[in-house]
Amino acid sequence: MKIYKTKSLGKILREKIIQKRLQYENEIKLAIFLGEKGGDAEYYAESLIKKAVQFHIKAKIFNYTNSSQFLTLLDSDEIKLSDGILALAPYPNDLKSEYLQKIPAEKDVDCINTNNFGKLFAGSSLLAPATAESVLVIAKKYFEGKLEGKNIVIVGRSVRVGKPLVPLFLSENCTVTICHSRTLELSQITKTADIVVCAIGKADFFGPSYFRDDQFIIDVGINKLGNKIVGDVNTDLLEDIDCSITPVPGGVGTITSYIIYKNLLYLLGQGL
Ligand SMILES: NC(=O)c1ccc[n+]([C@@H]2O[C@H](COP(=O)([O-])OP(=O)(O)OC[C@H]3O[C@@H](n4cnc5c(N)ncnc54)[C@H](OP(=O)(O)O)[C@@H]3O)[C@@H](O)[C@H]2O)c1
Repeated sequence: MKIYKTKSLGKILREKIIQKRLQYENEIKLAIFLGEKGGDAEYYAESLIKKAVQFHIKAKIFNYTNSSQFLTLLDSDEIKLSDGILALAPYPNDLKSEYLQKIPAEKDVDCINTNNFGKLFAGSSLLAPATAESVLVIAKKYFEGKLEGKNIVIVGRSVRVGKPLVPLFLSENCTVTICHSRTLELSQITKTADIVVCAIGKADFFGPSYFRDDQFIIDVGINKLGNKIVGDVNTDLLEDIDCSITPVPGGVGTITSYIIYKNLLYLLGQGL
């Protein structure tokens, strides 16, 4: 088993974003809505703020704790003047999904708005949820752009990861299978894939019985196990399999925040 780190891909994306940013003369503002303090989302928000500085983008965190604060914020002058809005999960319990739909499609950097999501499935937009798109760009880099004909098995069917990966991989002429908690004989299906995407959110769930030689495994999971952050795949058990796998941390998560800024520039007419 080989570990496939994504740091060098991150550097390439960073350079591309810097170049595109230089071509856009106006100030750019990103509003990050944070509904929960002290968790992974806050850590992610802070890493986005650090990256924003590199790109001369003004990113700011807006804390809220319930749906009425969320709606008031959305209606505020400061947010109306922002170019992009990112509402990070997890959301407060009373935040109905229809409130998230109030994020205007033209500022929706994580493709939450169903107008944008629908366009992705219709094949008429390049905007996708950042985590899903990170998976695609990692797969493209690994296979040097040659994804056509590859068999992809995605485990997990959430709106932000599993589902949007279907149109993304189809757009590369891959054959896509999506699995979930009711899938039967999961380990038989994952073994048929060239690329297995593990996105279930269960620490160390996948062991050697799910994989075979020559596969590329993309581990999307971010799970707390004691003091450690681990993925969905237990890499310690894959020593005897001749596969490659993205690490956690240092894999998908490294790319996601770059994709947010790529999406922000795309919404401003500066597609990479
Ligand atoms: N790296 C990043 O940038 C990034 C970003 C976002 C999320 N994540 C991580 O990715 C993971 C998934 O996130 P999510 O938001 O997609 O999670 P989610 O909304 O909880 O969805 C989990 C999916 O996994 C499926 N599942 C659960 N147990 C399963 C099992 N035993 N066998 C097969 N499928 C199973 C569920 O199936 P059902 O639909 O049948 O319930 C569901 O579709 C989490 O660890 C999250 O922290 C990482």
